Amino acid sequence: MSGSLLVDNIGELVTNGAGEGPLGIRRNAAVLVEEGRVVWVGPSAYAPAADHHVDAGGAAVLPGFVDSHAHLVFAGDRAAEFAARMAGQPYTGGGIRTTVGATRAATDDELRATVRRLRGEALRQGTTTMEIKSGYGLTVADEARSLRIAAETSTETTFLGAHVVPAEYADRPDDYVGLVCGPMLAAAAPYAKWIDVFCERGAFDVDHARAILACGRAAGLGVRLHANQLGPGPGVQLGVELDAASVDHCTHLSDADVAALADTAHSDGSGTRTVATLLPGAEFSTRSPYPDARRLLDAGVTVALATDCNPGSSYTSSMPFCVALAVREMRMTPAEAVWAATAGGARALRRDDIGVLTPGARADLVVLDAPSYLHLAYRPGVPLIRQVIRNGALQ
Ligand code: NIG
Ligand code: FE
Repeated sequence: MSGSLLVDNIGELVTNGAGEGPLGIRRNAAVLVEEGRVVWVGPSAYAPAADHHVDAGGAAVLPGFVDSHAHLVFAGDRAAEFAARMAGQPYTGGGIRTTVGATRAATDDELRATVRRLRGEALRQGTTTMEIKSGYGLTVADEARSLRIAAETSTETTFLGAHVVPAEYADRPDDYVGLVCGPMLAAAAPYAKWIDVFCERGAFDVDHARAILACGRAAGLGVRLHANQLGPGPGVQLGVELDAASVDHCTHLSDADVAALADTAHSDGSGTRTVATLLPGAEFSTRSPYPDARRLLDAGVTVALATDCNPGSSYTSSMPFCVALAVREMRMTPAEAVWAATAGGARALRRDDIGVLTPGARADLVVLDAPSYLHLAYRPGVPLIRQVIRNGALQ
């Protein structure tokens, strides 16, 4: 679609900028879009003319969701593992190796089809930015192709060669770390923006995680990591030490972990440099206790919500589902959860052009089939995404 686009008659506009309350709400508003950017936000009654027009009909409009944590490049599923868990088995992350086997055996086109299917599913649920990790290949060639395929769909790509130690290296993890930091990183880096490590008992210990993240940073990648998901551990504080953009999961935190995150606060009061990204789909799907978002928020830590979409611990692509869980199970207010799923995700990716609807921002908007953002948590499981505009284009 070329030319300008006006979305008007917006009953409740969430800007995450200037406006009422923490979501910067404006009522009876309109947004003008040109060349993929928001160029004007104001009262609907004073909206300028445009080439194209979307009448929101009094509904709520918000920035597209920013899903900052997803593992989309894989083959097969683990429905049987899920069923076993619901019958009482614990989640240990051991099933990752099952998916690694299926992923290695898949063709490029099969992997590409899965990424596109899940990306499309997420888009229809309002996700306009989606980070995509590798991590189910775990050979030089399979990690490189995973990222090459991910990069066809997203600029937010993450090298997760350190997801688990693959079976063939089980008795020599130091050698695997050498592979990840050497040839695997070299092959992956051209397609990756970020590096990630699963820092957890049974995956990578803190020394290995530090070494891998340092190599990635030296290769020009930004740092993020999976930390404190299955139990307490040093991951969160390692993330702070390395100026990670985000520490993800944060399910088991000590007071010192929370304080370390809070200490990364920007001096202008705009939140913390290292974001705590919470992934309630994982707790849902592994029947685990949810992270305590309230404790983080009350300490001043910036919180993001993401899906963790993957075939093992959280096979959902739905940000509205995560918002509803965060409100119901994690003591977040609906406003906090919606902020965390939009602006919070942008912070976790160190982006300031998304997650907000202010002049200059990317024109990523969601029109709800509801009068208020509150309905995202109030009407769980209901398809409330009426229209999605991504990069200025109606999807
Ligand atoms: O974020 N924790 C590590 N990785 C994924 C799970 C991967 C899997 O079980 O396949 C997660 O939960
Ligand atoms: Fe994950």
